[in-house]
Amino acid sequence: MRVIFLPFYFFTFLPLTAQVYLDETKPIEQRVEDALQRMTLDEKIAIIHAQSKFSAPGVKRLGIPDMWTDDGPHGVRPDVLWDEWEQAGQTNDSCVAFPALTCLAATWNPDMARLYGISLGEEALYRGKGMILGPGVNINRTPLGGRNFEYMGEDPFLAARMVVPYIQGLQSKGVSACVKHYALNNDEEYRHQVNVIVSDRALREIYLPAFEAAVREGGAWAIMGAYNLYKNQHNCHNEILLNKILKQEWGFDGVVVSDWGGTHDMDQAVRYGLDMEFGTWTDGLTMGATNAYDNYYLALSYKRAIQEGRYTTQELDEKVRRVLRLHFRTTMNHHRGYGFLCSESHYAAARRIAGEGIVLLKNDRGILPIRKESKVLVVGENAIKMMTVGGGSSSLKVQREVLPLDGLTTQFSILNPQSSIDYVRGYVGDTVQSYNGVTVGRSIAERRSNAELRAEAVEKAKQADVVIVFGGLNKADYQDCEGHDRQQYELPYEQNELVEALAQVNKNIVFVNISGNAVAMPWIDKVPAIVQGWFIGSEAGNALADVLTGRVNPSGKLPFTWYRQLSDVGAHSLGTYPGTWRPAHDIIDEEYKEDIFVGYRWADKKKVKPLFPFGYGLSYTTFKLGKLTPVSLDEGKGERSFSIDITNTGSVAGAETVQLYISDLKSSVDRPLKELKAFKKVWLQPGETKTVTLTIDRRALSFWNPQTNEWTVEPGTFEALVGTSAGNITSKVRFTI
Ligand code: BGC
Repeated sequence: MRVIFLPFYFFTFLPLTAQVYLDETKPIEQRVEDALQRMTLDEKIAIIHAQSKFSAPGVKRLGIPDMWTDDGPHGVRPDVLWDEWEQAGQTNDSCVAFPALTCLAATWNPDMARLYGISLGEEALYRGKGMILGPGVNINRTPLGGRNFEYMGEDPFLAARMVVPYIQGLQSKGVSACVKHYALNNDEEYRHQVNVIVSDRALREIYLPAFEAAVREGGAWAIMGAYNLYKNQHNCHNEILLNKILKQEWGFDGVVVSDWGGTHDMDQAVRYGLDMEFGTWTDGLTMGATNAYDNYYLALSYKRAIQEGRYTTQELDEKVRRVLRLHFRTTMNHHRGYGFLCSESHYAAARRIAGEGIVLLKNDRGILPIRKESKVLVVGENAIKMMTVGGGSSSLKVQREVLPLDGLTTQFSILNPQSSIDYVRGYVGDTVQSYNGVTVGRSIAERRSNAELRAEAVEKAKQADVVIVFGGLNKADYQDCEGHDRQQYELPYEQNELVEALAQVNKNIVFVNISGNAVAMPWIDKVPAIVQGWFIGSEAGNALADVLTGRVNPSGKLPFTWYRQLSDVGAHSLGTYPGTWRPAHDIIDEEYKEDIFVGYRWADKKKVKPLFPFGYGLSYTTFKLGKLTPVSLDEGKGERSFSIDITNTGSVAGAETVQLYISDLKSSVDRPLKELKAFKKVWLQPGETKTVTLTIDRRALSFWNPQTNEWTVEPGTFEALVGTSAGNITSKVRFTI
């Protein structure tokens, strides 16, 4: 036999040309298969679990970089140490904080969601993150929910329309979204132990649609399993939610990431859909075993189990394929940019989104916007408290945060250079100005009692033309904060007493509520103006001042029903929250007895009149809606359109959101009186009229049929209802199918 000697360069050249996984002109699936077959068992095991608090290794030998993740969802969280929760102390991880997602949802403007995603993506790129842990789309089922501020309200349709462009914007930058918390993580108390019992209809009609849209329309590259259980299985390895619905039914080809500390069982993690394990043996926030990564469920014990033949590599390869796909979409995408941090464009985006999301709830006698000649007194801790620190994993380290008092003072001095704004504290609540090692802002320590502070505020209020109270909640434990729920619907820190006392001496009170949730307002009739100010990040003070001074005409609309009292809320009136502990006190069963009747669906069914309905929000101008008219029908696509004229009947330019709800007049199943199925935000100059077209598809008419496991439309008569909130329907039209 002749031995042929090939030159050395032949061997070095051959593998190079065959490196399909590095060839960006090749289809992604070919690249995935090519990389997969080059990997050793150790390399495969390594990339499916964390190596540090927020990263998983790549494959160094193959030039695949590490995958760095970070919270999310309102800005890029500052870096912690490799294996500790302490701050890494970087000087380049201060960020722009964007408005919390409730505020984004309140814009009812998908363009704002896209802008949000793009801006956040640019900040993430600069910080070297391949994945942002957000956005969150768990449904607001109870106003006590500690993390509602991180989510997009109570309505599955609104949340779906808003989450899709956020994801698309973010991922257009080559940064993966990680949509969370899938699924049924609707309250925080006992979040690791809650086993949700929910009907198939409520699951499909209320709790899953935003996730489904995120995957099917938004093309999300990652999703985070929730801490809680569904059908007695933790959601980070849940056969029904992950394998059956997410992967098989919706065709999700991305990675399922565990929530930090949400993995509990190797066999289930292997078989029931988890792809990347993070944060095991922590509470997700603070504590954690040191260098525990080899002991993760998907680490050495899984490797041993494969070597001993307890599993083939089938499940492992499937996970690895997904992780590789993620890399090709993000870290291995050589076209993605470098990003930039704290740019003026990001501040402008944050301010614009906030300006569109702030909701004017009440404005009797046209008290707002404030007038330049007014003597203004500002009262309240939330006028001087930073809200970007605290609240759990969404806490940020900002380059700057404009406080409400500062923003208002600056703008008021432009309106009226002669005058100044006076400030008094009014109440003392949470004076902590730091979270997880990030300490910022001036001290807001206060020694005086609430009674003393109140008395001082009342004295000053007697002299003022207008009193603006910045109150509400904050990001401390048991407020709007991860890990627990609120313990009361009422405002904390004796704020009700403060407002009542101020209202007795001054009839021009403006209450600006800073929160991610509704609160009780027993004094509502005594206060002429109320603004919902959310948590709006770096530009908080500027954006609030924009609205209060009239520089921006408010156009936000509530993404949830603002109930008068807790007992009006479905979950609470049926006593289903927080659930029932099992005898061993390990699991708490929470049955969603209100079923599909969440938010305005419950208010409609029970004829409860909320303080402010879903979709509600005022403007400094007025609008008139015409008659709703069916304009077209596309049987093939199952689409029908309606049109309506809208006119700005006031004297300033402004925006109104036209909302279309559908009602199935006769059905074999219990259906909500009406459900939001289309909306459009329209900008109008004074006197201007525009025609708005709203289109719905077949899904808008259907319900989830648990018998057939399908969306079902029953022939019959439907009604399309149009209005400016769930409580203000101005025109309807019937149609049959
Ligand atoms: C939270 C997640 C977060 C993760 C990492 C968990 O406690 O539930 O939303 O992304 O921590 O910080």
